Amino acid sequence: MTAASDDGLAARRGALTLIEGAMARRGGLDETMGGALAGLEGRDRAFARNLAMTTLRHWGQIERVLASRLASPPPAPVMALMRIGLAQALFTDVADHAAVATTLDLAQAEQPTRPFKGLINAVLRGLLREPPVLRDEDLAPDWLLARWRAAFGAADAAAIAGAIADEALTDLSLKDSADAAALAQTLEAGALPGGTLRSQLRGDITLWPGYPEGQWWVQDAAAAIPARLLNIKPGQTALDLCAAPGGKTLQLAAMGGTVTALDRSASRLRRLRENLARTQLHAEVIAEPAETWADERTFDALLLDAPCSATGTFRRQPEVLWLVRPPEIAKLAMVQARMLHAAARRAAPGGRLVYCVCSLEPEEGEAHVENFLKYHPDFQLEPVSPSEGGAPAASVRPDGSLRILPHHMEGGMDGFFVVRFKRSQG
Ligand SMILES: C[S@@+](CC[C@H](N)C(=O)[O-])C[C@H]1O[C@@H](n2cnc3c(N)ncnc32)[C@H](O)[C@@H]1O
Repeated sequence: MTAASDDGLAARRGALTLIEGAMARRGGLDETMGGALAGLEGRDRAFARNLAMTTLRHWGQIERVLASRLASPPPAPVMALMRIGLAQALFTDVADHAAVATTLDLAQAEQPTRPFKGLINAVLRGLLREPPVLRDEDLAPDWLLARWRAAFGAADAAAIAGAIADEALTDLSLKDSADAAALAQTLEAGALPGGTLRSQLRGDITLWPGYPEGQWWVQDAAAAIPARLLNIKPGQTALDLCAAPGGKTLQLAAMGGTVTALDRSASRLRRLRENLARTQLHAEVIAEPAETWADERTFDALLLDAPCSATGTFRRQPEVLWLVRPPEIAKLAMVQARMLHAAARRAAPGGRLVYCVCSLEPEEGEAHVENFLKYHPDFQLEPVSPSEGGAPAASVRPDGSLRILPHHMEGGMDGFFVVRFKRSQG
């Protein structure tokens, strides 16, 4: 981790604000980024962001360790300080004495935390004297881990939990695969199955080669698989029903499809339009809910990347694991079922429909398949063959749908469920 400059207190305050934003609501880390990091120089910005992400990735372990040393939880600002102090000492290359000293300086600087300096000092120094046992299984909330064990078995659940603390490299999808060799070199990237480039570069992506020219966009290796499975040919029509911010729309347009990109969120569609403009790709963009969009057209290819709990995206947003609640999963599953039915009537005879979610929860994935086929006898499941579209062989289920787990690829990938249906000819 890059060292913070000066006394490093401003960078650590930035990290505290980012963590608070992330744990307040989904997307909160990105929303707080501008304010939290304002006034920080490049090195301190990187330090603040890394410290926030490290703390969020190890959240479960940190909570358990602190709970074991505290008779009762102290006020929230004190807990927040102890978390970042512990995260630095245990999980970064900040020296132990610096981790403790800066945490005490932060406590001293604010009236509500000042009286707790003694407690913070005792807890942190005690943990450094007798280092805690850190278990992978504490990286996830108990209830989610229990669900993953029930759904995937003990070994896969343990591997998922083990991946929570891993930092993800940046994956890129290319507009034109002919640029792959040259871009791989300038972006210090390796090619993954399916054509994704995995870059070793870090920092501001807008400064990386090929970004201003629109030669690539950031897209996790797993997220790039669903659109490839539609395998559209130039001139075929495609409807992306939940399109923003647009990674999959860009793929469909780059394949030569005549693409319609629908999303209920006008603000998220602004990002999609920017992405289209930068890459000089074309799509018709419509801000409407998929279920009620009053348009009678049917399409050769449909992509439904439905709103979901996003538990598969913990490598880049670890806080999702701590924000999601069981009732939310049940509610989202109902929304997804409705959207699948709405999508079905947009398929032309012989058309394909790919449904996907970046969730690890079977209610949002596997559970939809049987119901969908029951209510839509004119559709059949079209199995994905091993390695098709870059899908890891381990992800292919017996019925030919995909359950992509983060450890299915060396270096990790997001968790996804993907299934492809085909409508009969008539
Ligand atoms: C998982 S994200 C889509 C990501 C996108 N496919 C991509 O690759 O960049 C889900 C999207 O569904 C949109 N959404 C939620 N409910 C919707 C609805 N009823 N109709 C259309 N879009 C909806 C959200 O605004 C969000 O942008």
